[in-house]
Amino acid sequence: MKPIEIRPGVFWVGVNDRVTDLFEGLWPISREGISYNAYLVVDDKSALIDLSKEILTEDYLAQLAQVFDITTLDYVVINHMEPDHSGALKRVLELAPSVQILGMPKTVGMLNDFYGITENVTRLSNGEELSLGKHTLRFVYTPFVHWPETMMTYMVEEQVLFPCDGFGGYGVLDDGIFDDTVTDLAYYEAEALRYFTNIVAAFSKSVLSAISKFAEMPIEMIAPSHGLIWRKDPGRILQLYQTWSQYYHQPAEVGITALFGTMYRNTERALNATLAGIASEGVSVKVHDVRKTHVSYILPDLWTRRGVLAAAPTYEGGLFPPLMDVLMMADRKRVTKKTTAYLGSKAWSGGGQADFMRMAEKMDWQVLNAFTFLGGPNETDLSRAYEMGVQLARAVKSNE
Ligand code: FEO
Repeated sequence: MKPIEIRPGVFWVGVNDRVTDLFEGLWPISREGISYNAYLVVDDKSALIDLSKEILTEDYLAQLAQVFDITTLDYVVINHMEPDHSGALKRVLELAPSVQILGMPKTVGMLNDFYGITENVTRLSNGEELSLGKHTLRFVYTPFVHWPETMMTYMVEEQVLFPCDGFGGYGVLDDGIFDDTVTDLAYYEAEALRYFTNIVAAFSKSVLSAISKFAEMPIEMIAPSHGLIWRKDPGRILQLYQTWSQYYHQPAEVGITALFGTMYRNTERALNATLAGIASEGVSVKVHDVRKTHVSYILPDLWTRRGVLAAAPTYEGGLFPPLMDVLMMADRKRVTKKTTAYLGSKAWSGGGQADFMRMAEKMDWQVLNAFTFLGGPNETDLSRAYEMGVQLARAVKSNE
């Protein structure tokens, strides 16, 4: 792609990553890809805001070279030190050895830890401004969106926010880089939610704190370092991130996520009865087969729906491992304040329920009901399962 001037003298110089299968080594993006957006400001002084992952360094430099001679660069702004944004730094320093690197104090230590870089590094303070000529950059410390050193850069005259990971999303930028030029905005919003739940949600409190810091600064454009640039409706992604972040401490939307696993379809038969009970109350349910679905794709529903139905059997005296894996990641991502129920076959012994209860307590999930059955469910079990669905759906509706 070619650089795109997003404001006078301000260029998007991002690159698409179509080769990484697991973002952070964890999250599948083989189908979706991701963009590493970076921005060049050309003025009396020049600045690069964020870079790219190391494997795309040459693409990134080729992108830049179309509009700028990097050997004349004055500043590199490190909003966030994670290597998906700083991986090109050592190569940039080879080409522009006297460039000044700007970051928050914690960034300075990380530059040494990750790259052994200690020279020409300037520690910024929260709210500090830098004039490049016609453009003024204001640096706002927003720790833990996503790492502790994270800051966001605000361009004062153009009212553009460069929030790095904040307000970002998965998905390469194929048919445009702006919210008003892509053909399928809903896709990018869904991938923004998946990215949020995978990467940022555990730091929701910090996201809300960051949003509050910009309450008095008018924002005409949000230019994150992953995903779309929001120029038509920056308030849209701001509102989405704010709404999603609030679910860390208050009930999410009316709806249920069913986490389902089965060995010989005995738990599945009980699950079907419970789903019928939920349906009788008109509550939306999204069923995820934990055996087949990567947790990356489950987290968006888990995060945004207030109810959870866990349906999986006992396996060797404990909870069915694929469900345990999902619950452990949910705990890591601080999925909390859920209204839940559990059912499953005990096989010959049981043990799955105790594991579920322990995880639910750890995550502050309210367990309305739980029951298990030896082997397969009989007619009484199926009636109980149906009633469990009714109860769960009513509870989810009632705690609005
Ligand atoms: Fe896109 Fe936290 O790095």
